[in-house]
Amino acid sequence: MEKKIVITIDGWSSCGKSTLAKQLSQKLGYLYVDSGAMYRAITLYFLRNNIDWADKKEVKNALKSISLEFVFNPKSNNSEMHLNGENVEYLIRDLVVAEKVSDVAAIKEVREFAVAQQQKMGEKKGIVMDGRDIGTVVFPKAELKIFMTADNAVRVQRRFKELYEKNPNVGIDEVKNNLEMRDYIDSHRAVSPLQKAADALVLDNTELTEDQQFKKVMEWIKKLF
Ligand code: CDP
Repeated sequence: MEKKIVITIDGWSSCGKSTLAKQLSQKLGYLYVDSGAMYRAITLYFLRNNIDWADKKEVKNALKSISLEFVFNPKSNNSEMHLNGENVEYLIRDLVVAEKVSDVAAIKEVREFAVAQQQKMGEKKGIVMDGRDIGTVVFPKAELKIFMTADNAVRVQRRFKELYEKNPNVGIDEVKNNLEMRDYIDSHRAVSPLQKAADALVLDNTELTEDQQFKKVMEWIKKLF
């Protein structure tokens, strides 16, 4: 396929957006960008530096000191988030960050900072980006927009398993509460709330295997060429 397109994947927390995005980027030879990692890294910076994010001035100043970069790690076969030169990929997945990330991501200045970088990464097309506002705000002209969803209980199970493998002290209730809280804040915030773009295709993967969901989306892609 010589024509390169932009693929956006938006949806609720933990419904498999990054799994699908990675499958697609590998198959198509596209760049994969996990926009959520950027909001998580900014949140980590704010927490570490005791930034009062209710104070716009403090936020603006803090953002000036933040440099975000995705660095491919051949060992994990994954593009990992680096914050001011430090690999924070592992740290940003922690519940401590997840507890605060939706509050930080609701701040207008934070979004402007992240979105400008995301749009730059997509200038040459050939990109798959997942998040909450990618099809609506970041790339409103994307050729393929996917809105992902899955049953709540399934999403909680999937995220619990992921976190439990790293830290067996994690409880299923805190994972459930965190997903529900983030979905609520993300879809009710004033700036770029999570919502399905009018022209997005819905993918409910509650009962689909990774292989099935991949095949389904590849069918959608073939129709575009
Ligand atoms: O992996 P999961 O779906 O749980 O979340 P994520 O993609 O890592 O995103 C973490 C948080 O960042 C979300 O709950 C949103 O608050 C925020 N986010 C956003 O506001 N806009 C995006 N484009 C991506 C993430």
